[in-house]
Order: sequence, then C-alpha cells, then structure tokens
Amino acid sequence: MWVPIALSRDIPRGVTRAVHLEGQELVIWRGESGSAQVWEDRCPHRGMRLSLGFVRGDSLNCLYHGWEYGAGGSCAKIPAHPDLTVPPTIKANAFSAAETGGLILVDLARAVGPPPVFLAGRPIASLAIMSDIGTVLALAGGLPEAGVQAVETELDGVRLTIGWHVPGPGKLMLHVVAVDPGNVESRALVALHRLRAQAEAGVAA
Ligand code: FES
Repeated sequence: MWVPIALSRDIPRGVTRAVHLEGQELVIWRGESGSAQVWEDRCPHRGMRLSLGFVRGDSLNCLYHGWEYGAGGSCAKIPAHPDLTVPPTIKANAFSAAETGGLILVDLARAVGPPPVFLAGRPIASLAIMSDIGTVLALAGGLPEAGVQAVETELDGVRLTIGWHVPGPGKLMLHVVAVDPGNVESRALVALHRLRAQAEAGVAA
C-alpha cells in the first residue's frame, strides 16, 4: 500500500523531517539530486535519530558519530576510520518512496507495485485531525484509489487530492493538493477546517 506522508513542497533539498507512521518512526529527506528518501529514523550504529542528522549532497550524515549514508541507505563513510571500506551490510533501513501530484509516498511493505499517478496540483496543507478515516471519507466523499491511501474529491467546488497517513491511534494526518488551477487556496482551507471540525465532532455526512 502506498501511503502519502508529506507534501513535496514541505521537504525541499537539504531538509530532513521526522514522521510517525502507525507507530513507526521514519525520516524523510531530500538530497541535491532532488529525489525524496524515506528511511527508518534510526542510525544502524548506535540508534541515533537520523532526522537529527544533516544532508550533504546526496548523503545523510548521522549527528552522533558522522556515519554517512547514501541513497538506498548504504553507509559510504565512517569518519573515525577514513581508510575503511565499509561493509555493504551496514545500511540504513530504506523504504520504497515515490512522488506524484505534489505528494511524497512510502510503501513500508516493499510490495514493489508501481506507485499511483496523481495530477499535478497546488499544495494546500498537511492537516492533523483527531478522528478516523471512515468518518473523514463519509464527510469528504470520493472513493479511495486502489493500492494507495488517497481520494480525489471536491469540497466547496474545489477539486482536491486528499492523501492520508495514520501517525498513531486516534490520529490522522491529511495531505491535500488542489487540482484546480487558480487562486483556490483560501476556499480549500476553509473547507478543510470545516471538515476537521465536523470529523472531530463525529458528525456523519
Ligand atoms: S549513532 Fe549514528 S554514527 Fe554513531
């Protein structure tokens, strides 16, 4: 299952971000070449959070002892042993990641199905909601796409792609992109905040 975990615009080059996905701690980061990476947020050396590290070029460097990991998670350099050829078994835990329509997605199961394709759009917001996806979909309408946690729907006359992930019990994070051109941000935001208020109040559609 492909799971949207962030808006592309919120992870520019050189940035790391910690994300919780159903109890799992992940780091999203983007190097100079521009592709988004999604890894377990844990350094294989001593377990430091990689989201606290820093991006250099297309590598992510751990904050603690500076081990350097390249795309795919392989450790390329151990600063304390500069002449060491690092064994290929030393790797960060990298997951399948994809970007489409302004969303960053991850497939934790590594089922290697092709990622979905969404229309390019205008990023609106990532929005935390204390509710469940059944309640939100009953209010927002639209049917989830096969193999991905997202719907294409319309709120207040604005066509939206709404992706979601579950950070933990009772929580939901929506990632919303407007498909319609033009200045639709404020209308979309008003509709989303109303949706959140209704979902958190348990209002059925
Ligand atoms: S804990 Fe990451 S390099 Fe040591």
